Amino acid sequence: MIILGIETSCDETSASIVQRRYGKIKILSNIIFSQINIHKKYGGVVPEIAGREHVLNILPVIDQALIKAKIKLKQIDAIAVTNKPGLITSLIVGVETAKVLSYGLSIPLIKINHIEGHIYANWLSPISKISNFQFPISKKKSNIFPALILTVSGGHTMLILMKDHGKYQIIGNTVDDATGEAFDKAAKMMGLSYPGGPAVAAEAAKFDQKEKRYALCVPCYASLPRPMINSQNYNFSFSGLKTALLYALKKDKNYKKKIPEYCYEFQQAIIDVLISKTIKAALEFKVNAIMLTGGVSANKALREQIKKAVASKAPDLKLKITNLSYCGDNAAMIAMAGYYHALKKDFIKWDKIRADCSVNI
Ligand code: KG4
Ligand code: ZN
Repeated sequence: MIILGIETSCDETSASIVQRRYGKIKILSNIIFSQINIHKKYGGVVPEIAGREHVLNILPVIDQALIKAKIKLKQIDAIAVTNKPGLITSLIVGVETAKVLSYGLSIPLIKINHIEGHIYANWLSPISKISNFQFPISKKKSNIFPALILTVSGGHTMLILMKDHGKYQIIGNTVDDATGEAFDKAAKMMGLSYPGGPAVAAEAAKFDQKEKRYALCVPCYASLPRPMINSQNYNFSFSGLKTALLYALKKDKNYKKKIPEYCYEFQQAIIDVLISKTIKAALEFKVNAIMLTGGVSANKALREQIKKAVASKAPDLKLKITNLSYCGDNAAMIAMAGYYHALKKDFIKWDKIRADCSVNI
């Protein structure tokens, strides 16, 4: 089975070819065209521009994916495309392209929720064996389900209980800003570049905790809150944290000299909340595995600290952290999710596709 994955939910135009051969899923190509340099000067993604860029890029990106995979269009068995959530101006380009290809080639169309795509990024490694799911921590329980997925991206912060392939229960969600959004806005406040997550992380890494920790604490501006860390549910809220940072920066006339320390504290506040809630939920729901995914899962400090927290507080659990190449938006994760839908014949037949210019397929 050969699947073409298409992802255009935000500012990355991506196409990927995955193939199942002898029980193994192989990623033959994963082409990602990022628009970051275009949106950088506006300090965030401009939906109208993003849509227009996707229109320009989608066919060349699909062509590249086919060339790299050495696959002809007529060899494709199904097309998986992100149809929600995301920017409507961006989604529509991928969805309409997928519909046309599916109709033209008479092959099934699989609609994929972007968050489900991020979840399946955990199943991707350069060559991924379905039957041999690898975790960094070995000799743990063999079954991965139920698994708890912490999905942290520019648009989402979710704790999802995954009972089996395709069976999800959202147990925690953000009540305001998503994690990546909070990073992006904090970066903007401190005059750092877009996307804010990597910029804040890079500044935070410059902060030498041993020498300078609490240098800002006279008065204690840099000590930021850990919102909802002790709440009786698994929801998140990062809007107040962002406001606390804004007030701390406003009060501190010398903040420009202390950017690494502010970044360190902001990042640490987010990490403390994410990890505390994840471990608590994992123990309460008696899961077998924890998985970390989404754009923010590229954060080095988060990756290192969740490993330590699982090893000390939930040592019986497996931990899977998305491979760095697949944390951000990419079509391989959409194709992989599509593969599991295809196994269950959960797709739309080409002759049922409507020419209605809608993402509600
Ligand atoms: O999953 P993603 O590529 O797109 C969405 O689905 O939203 O996530 C993008 C988000 C951005 O907000 C970006 O700032 C954040 O992921 N991000 C990071 C890091 N790398 C990307 N946040 C924190 N640390 C990072 N290293
Ligand atoms: Zn994403």
